[in-house]
Amino acid sequence: MQYPEIIQLPKIKDPRGNLSFFENNIHIPFAIARTYWIYDVPGGEKRGGHAYKTLHEFIIALSGSFDVVLHNGKEEIKFTLNRSYYGLYVPPMYWRSIENFSTNSLALIAANQLYNEDEYLREFDDFKHLKNG
Ligand code: TYD
Repeated sequence: MQYPEIIQLPKIKDPRGNLSFFENNIHIPFAIARTYWIYDVPGGEKRGGHAYKTLHEFIIALSGSFDVVLHNGKEEIKFTLNRSYYGLYVPPMYWRSIENFSTNSLALIAANQLYNEDEYLREFDDFKHLKNG
């Protein structure tokens, strides 16, 4: 059983500007097949509102801040991301929304699979039934 987890990434401090990174199976527990980002989010909007059947993802606030709200089928857990050297690992079968975006925030998401609509559970009730049996 895998659980969501905040992962602290390396931070190479430098007077010229700081640098952080993550590598497949070293800093995050999967190999990356796809990376995408969410930006220009109007005030008050939410993204997500779905679960993935088998997809693993890692979410970072590269800039600004936002909340990742996860539901495990029984209860909700909220993670606030606001540093570019912290990310949230989200295992499969967690209902997730991203909300409360600050102005000009930038969400980077790495996933272990290519985009595949069949991976999505878009109805909360379907997710809950599958999760809780
Ligand atoms: P979706 O994951 O549903 O975003 P959200 O849950 O935040 O609304 O993606 C929105 C649309 O973008 C989806 O219908 C198809 C497209 N899309 C891709 O083509 N490739 C991708 O990697 C992602 C994440 C989305």
